[in-house]
Amino acid sequence: MIVVGLDKDLRLAKSIAQKAKAAFSKAVVTRFPDSEIKVCIPDNISKKKVAIVKSLFPANDSIMEVLFTAKTCRELGAKKIILVCPYLAYMRQDIAFHKGEAVSAKIMADLLSRYVDVLVTVDPHLHRIKSLGSIFKIKAVKLSAVGLIAGFIKKNLRNVMIIGPDIESKQWDRKVAKLTHSAYIILKKHRKSSYNINLTFSRNMDVASKNIVIIDDIISTGRTLLKTIKHLKTQGPKSIYCFCTHGIFASDAAQKIRKIGARIISTNTIQNKYSFIDVSGIIAEALKKV
Ligand code: R5P
Repeated sequence: MIVVGLDKDLRLAKSIAQKAKAAFSKAVVTRFPDSEIKVCIPDNISKKKVAIVKSLFPANDSIMEVLFTAKTCRELGAKKIILVCPYLAYMRQDIAFHKGEAVSAKIMADLLSRYVDVLVTVDPHLHRIKSLGSIFKIKAVKLSAVGLIAGFIKKNLRNVMIIGPDIESKQWDRKVAKLTHSAYIILKKHRKSSYNINLTFSRNMDVASKNIVIIDDIISTGRTLLKTIKHLKTQGPKSIYCFCTHGIFASDAAQKIRKIGARIISTNTIQNKYSFIDVSGIIAEALKKV
């Protein structure tokens, strides 16, 4: 197997290759002044199983990089093409919320299915679409950072209360709570727009003097967490930690969260300065089985 790394995900790709005991190749991406890109695969990949590592962030450019890379690998004679896409974008657009809207998650899955043979991803946002198998026409492997997050919490924190900011987060929070033997509460969220959300808090949230751990799959604008943190702070917790698998941190989201006194811990599905949890090990293990 050969792991092909692209752009901002080179570090993760190298680490995956090392752990999977696979060869590594760097795809060269050239950017033109008009925003077009060109991809070049300099190494010989003929008759090899190729694992392309690229998170879909930023979403649109990354999708083009992935498609160009996958198609080129196919033309260069790759035996099998695996797309390792630690962060799978567009999964939140899983229905037409209003008449006439594109269901982007399905379109994106359909597109990727045409170019690669297998998808490996981490904590995809599955909500109204219940499984990757229902939208991807190829084998799709869903990994989770839940075990790694729980391990981090067990090693570093005591007297923990886990908060899930919305119903979607229950799938991760419940598991982390079980693994860390902690209590958990799931809040109700109503999103009016990207920056405008309402959260419903239960009256007796026993958070005083506790280390609060808010866990979500994605931090994007940070508005979900900011609302949660602001409310929790009025209840006298000892500290507040925000965990996520995918740290997008649109605009100044991270600074805002830090400024109101919460700490951030994310995985490296999207590399950022809060990437304290490394997913390369679980991906390498999955690749050995594909
Ligand atoms: C959506 O339901 C996701 O699980 C996250 O809660 C959401 O993407 C967070 O977005 P933001 O940081 O923009 O509030």
